[in-house]
Amino acid sequence: MINNLKSKITDKSANIGIIGLGYVGLPLAVEFAKAGFSVTGFDNDSVKVSEINKGASYIPDVPSKDVKDIVSSGKLSVTSDKSLLNKMDVIIICVPTPLRKTKEPDISFILQAAEDINSNLRKGQLVILESTTYPGTTEEVILPKLGGNGLKVGKDIFIAFSPERVDPGNKKYKTKDIPKVVGGVTEVCTELAKVLYSQIIKEVIPVSSTRSAEMVKLLENTYRIVNIGLINEIALLCNKMDVDVWEIINAAKTKPFGFMPFYPGPGVGGHCISTDPHYLSWKARTYGFETRFIELAEKINSSMPHYVVDRIIDGLNSQKKPLKGSKILIVGVTYKKDISDMRESPSLAVINSLIEKEAKVQYHDPLVSNFEIDGLSLNSIDLTKESVSSSDCVVIITDHTVLDYKLIAENANLVLDTRNALKAFKGNAKIIKL
Ligand SMILES: NC(=O)c1ccc[n+]([C@@H]2O[C@H](COP(=O)([O-])OP(=O)(O)OC[C@H]3O[C@@H](n4cnc5c(N)ncnc54)[C@H](O)[C@@H]3O)[C@@H](O)[C@H]2O)c1
Repeated sequence: MINNLKSKITDKSANIGIIGLGYVGLPLAVEFAKAGFSVTGFDNDSVKVSEINKGASYIPDVPSKDVKDIVSSGKLSVTSDKSLLNKMDVIIICVPTPLRKTKEPDISFILQAAEDINSNLRKGQLVILESTTYPGTTEEVILPKLGGNGLKVGKDIFIAFSPERVDPGNKKYKTKDIPKVVGGVTEVCTELAKVLYSQIIKEVIPVSSTRSAEMVKLLENTYRIVNIGLINEIALLCNKMDVDVWEIINAAKTKPFGFMPFYPGPGVGGHCISTDPHYLSWKARTYGFETRFIELAEKINSSMPHYVVDRIIDGLNSQKKPLKGSKILIVGVTYKKDISDMRESPSLAVINSLIEKEAKVQYHDPLVSNFEIDGLSLNSIDLTKESVSSSDCVVIITDHTVLDYKLIAENANLVLDTRNALKAFKGNAKIIKL
């Protein structure tokens, strides 16, 4: 069974099924298809299914041309029909892992995927979970579902966890360039997962268990949230001390060892940094353990949108204007630059607070033409001399590369720059930095 599956993987005749074709699943499907595998994507979203089958990509990092080529050559097809899972030799789960309102893990999408696989399970399949989740999920949730029907794990079926590390918008590191960590339920499961990913990724790092592989991802994202929390706190202090935090970071990062730069900002967002550490905190609590660094970083990071609003109020005040009734132009609303993802974006908290305080809020984002906030629909306005100069304050929340910063710097009455995007315009008294 093992050797059969291994040779199917190495000669690329293995059928690969990917459940969930979002920011993670679609790039992965494309890589396997480009490597010569026959890939079937499974998604519940009928719009995504029809888009891909038409050869159109909805993920900016994945060119439509790539999708068109592999769809027309028959290497990639997408369906909502889960019965086809039975035909797959390898099944990779890339479904969302959000938080509930109570900030507790919502693993319902993983549970649904596991049930779909279980209903279509057969001998000789390798199942890999890639969704970010708390350590223990694969063995506590997937294993009992799939291993409970007489099939022996490590002999008849194979189960592993491999964290996804994709960084949307990153031009240098794409799915195939990022080393992949794998941990199986048994050694054979690890070995098979290693052989699989080695077909599309240069470096694969095996670890001793699924639990370790799950923990690797949460360490990586906890490291980020804690360091962002630290630098945000330093930014608050620097403002009080009238020291430029951006200058400090740029000088500190010249140290060739022992320092890695993180940058302050209006808060954290996205589907990873603002979510994943809560998965770890939640699991830690089941061990009676408190993850104090995560709690503190979360507290600081979630205070940043309020701090941004306070700085807008201070800036307007220095020009003898109240926030109430002032025109505020928000530039960039996504959670980070050069992507269109608004999930958990700190811009939402900033805009909400400004609207609550009765400011007149408009926004410009070249990647988001409209969105809804608390039942209110907002449309992106053009970034023009007129729209900038007629605003009482321009607030740069997301520093997209394509934005015309010269236009902003030269025409704004006041700018709050939360990303140091206007670093080239030194000495302009109308620009205040975070
Ligand atoms: N987006 C990132 O930058 C990133 C990076 C690393 C890891 N992750 C993790 O990867 C996982 C997926 O994230 P994403 O950003 O790709 O999510 P996404 O929302 O972009 O995509 C998930 C897809 O899964 C589909 N889906 C949900 N349940 C399904 C089911 N039962 N069957 C079939 N399809 C189903 C949805 O329709 C959607 O298209 C999450 O655990 C996330 O934390 C995301």
